[in-house]
Amino acid sequence: QAIQAEVESFLISNEAELEQFRIAYVGRKGRLAALFDGLKDVPAENRRDVGQALNALKQLAEGKFSLAQEAFADSGSSVQVPDDLTLTDPIMHGSMHPLTIVRARILEIFNRMGFSVSDGPEIETDFFNFTALNFPPNHPAREMQDTFFIEKGKGEIQDDVLLRTHTSNVQVRLMQYQKPPIRSIMPGRVFRNEAISARAHCLFHQVEGLYVDEDVSFKDLKDSLYHFAKEMFGKDTKVRFRPSYFPFTEPSAEMDITCLLCKGDGCNVCKQAGWVEIGGAGMVDPNVLENVGIDSKKYSGFAFGMGIERITMLKYQIKDLRLFTENDVRFLRQFN
Ligand code: PHE
Repeated sequence: QAIQAEVESFLISNEAELEQFRIAYVGRKGRLAALFDGLKDVPAENRRDVGQALNALKQLAEGKFSLAQEAFADSGSSVQVPDDLTLTDPIMHGSMHPLTIVRARILEIFNRMGFSVSDGPEIETDFFNFTALNFPPNHPAREMQDTFFIEKGKGEIQDDVLLRTHTSNVQVRLMQYQKPPIRSIMPGRVFRNEAISARAHCLFHQVEGLYVDEDVSFKDLKDSLYHFAKEMFGKDTKVRFRPSYFPFTEPSAEMDITCLLCKGDGCNVCKQAGWVEIGGAGMVDPNVLENVGIDSKKYSGFAFGMGIERITMLKYQIKDLRLFTENDVRFLRQFN
């Protein structure tokens, strides 16, 4: 019993103490081993009981030892193992989700360029997701976005309730509420009714950006996104813009960077031999400015939108989008 109390109260708070504990109670020359050796001298009628008590003591000591050993291996730092081993597990440190890490990095880069951060609702009306952004009723561009509808509005299409398909809804809300100069980015979750695969998901994250002021030009747009790409992916990263179409920007472009996964041979992420699209961009269409009461003769602006998953995949060499939502600890632990 005295030894049981010793084992229980022994504090293991560093690796030296772990070793002392091992020698005293777990090792072959320790005090427990000596007691086991003495078992043969115990009268035969008591031997069973004493043997059982010793075995229980041995389990206690070995359990405490391996728990403490694991805790040091996991954290690499010192941990105090509680006396009552049934109370807590060894301390496991969590890690940030890779999407959180990359989102924080994106915000940091744009904050340095003077962009604030704005937020808005995920459940949205058609007005903020489409109509105000110059999507005409029944325009095919609405279908391009594979919308999840929640509720049909009474009457006008712009009253339909849906899950936002991009964070551009926040741009509209911001422009209604704040007059230029506006320089902000909008990170958030977006939803599209797409089959889940290594490259696509029905839920993903975007960061959009908006800059509206007097004399904002396409050069400002390109400079800002070039700067972003070099900061995010390193200065050797090449960037290209391809002409594109969005109802809310004119002219519009898609932005590609050199694929960091396959280094140019084509892979399941880039598909187009070495270039991978990371977002869309363009000059805010004057109709959008007028829809929110901003004088489009006086002001101009640029906007862009990027997928955080795609950027994270390139940054960390992740080849399957589904990993982000499966919460497999073997995946998550790597971002410690
Ligand atoms: N909203 C667009 C999308 O989700 C991205 C975008 C934002 C394009 C801003 C241009 C300007 O596809």
